[in-house]
Amino acid sequence: MKKFLGGLAVISMASLALAGCASNPGTEATGGDDLITVGFAQTGSESGWRSANTESMKAAFSEENGFNLVFNAADNKPEAQIAAVRSFINQGVDAIVIAPIVVDGWDDVLNEAKDAGIPVILEDRTVSASEDLYASWIGLDFEQEGRTAGEWVVENFGDEGANLVILEGTTGSSAALDRATGFADAIAGSNITILDSQTGNFTRADGKTVMEGFLQKYGSDIDLLFAHNDDMGLGALDAIKAAGLEPGVDIKIVTIDAVRDGMQALANGEFNFIVECNPILGEKVAEVVKAVLAGESVEKSIIVPDGAFTQEDAIELLPTRPY
Ligand code: AHR
Repeated sequence: MKKFLGGLAVISMASLALAGCASNPGTEATGGDDLITVGFAQTGSESGWRSANTESMKAAFSEENGFNLVFNAADNKPEAQIAAVRSFINQGVDAIVIAPIVVDGWDDVLNEAKDAGIPVILEDRTVSASEDLYASWIGLDFEQEGRTAGEWVVENFGDEGANLVILEGTTGSSAALDRATGFADAIAGSNITILDSQTGNFTRADGKTVMEGFLQKYGSDIDLLFAHNDDMGLGALDAIKAAGLEPGVDIKIVTIDAVRDGMQALANGEFNFIVECNPILGEKVAEVVKAVLAGESVEKSIIVPDGAFTQEDAIELLPTRPY
């Protein structure tokens, strides 16, 4: 196993000879001796974004690319995700990649990985633990995503004023926390009134349920919906239609992600604006894992750029949208 100490990969001649020899009984991985064994602790499968991210990771960490991937999806349960990481440590994998469900609670297990000499690379979301406990984070600027959504709201509704409801992502996740901060910054001092803000756990089902509650409580007073991801916005569409209202017209909708179903809703005029969150991180993460194991220095934070789309953009981009 390649040894990782104090933020730097240290590869001894002996460990080089043993590179990729970690054994993983009872997993779906089937790598040969010359492969790098990587344990990947995914959040779960809550959204279209997550499916695209998982696909990108599996494609990048293929045997063809020199990897033996041990994949775990924790169904968005933080304790299950920590248990998966602990199991990777016990298996003696070469490196661990985590898409952390929530920011807090990582110190103990990250220290265990450090003591075992196994480098940890974060992808997608961040943690509150010390930066010394992981080699690198590859992800998105969630705060800027929220700010871009808020700026669109202020630009389009700031003058006349509007009543807004918010569907938040998973409570305690960096994606939800940072998007909320960026959005709040952007609408501060404007005529936008927040009627309510609740978590929809990044899922369609919860987005629908929470939006039904908002509609029961505030009815046609709601002018605007900000959903922290497309899936919750898509769930809310059903609730809005069932209430006899027209999404995109009676209630304007801004979301984050820009996955295919979200872009289709934008092209249809049911969503009004989408801020992109790029899920295609696999290749970059794989490159960083190899660099860390080779003892090369890597950036502590690597941010992948995002765009933002109007209805016209969605119509143009949909035919070639890969996810
Ligand atoms: O962390 C990224 C977020 O997680 C995506 O915006 C959301 O769709 C996913 O579940």
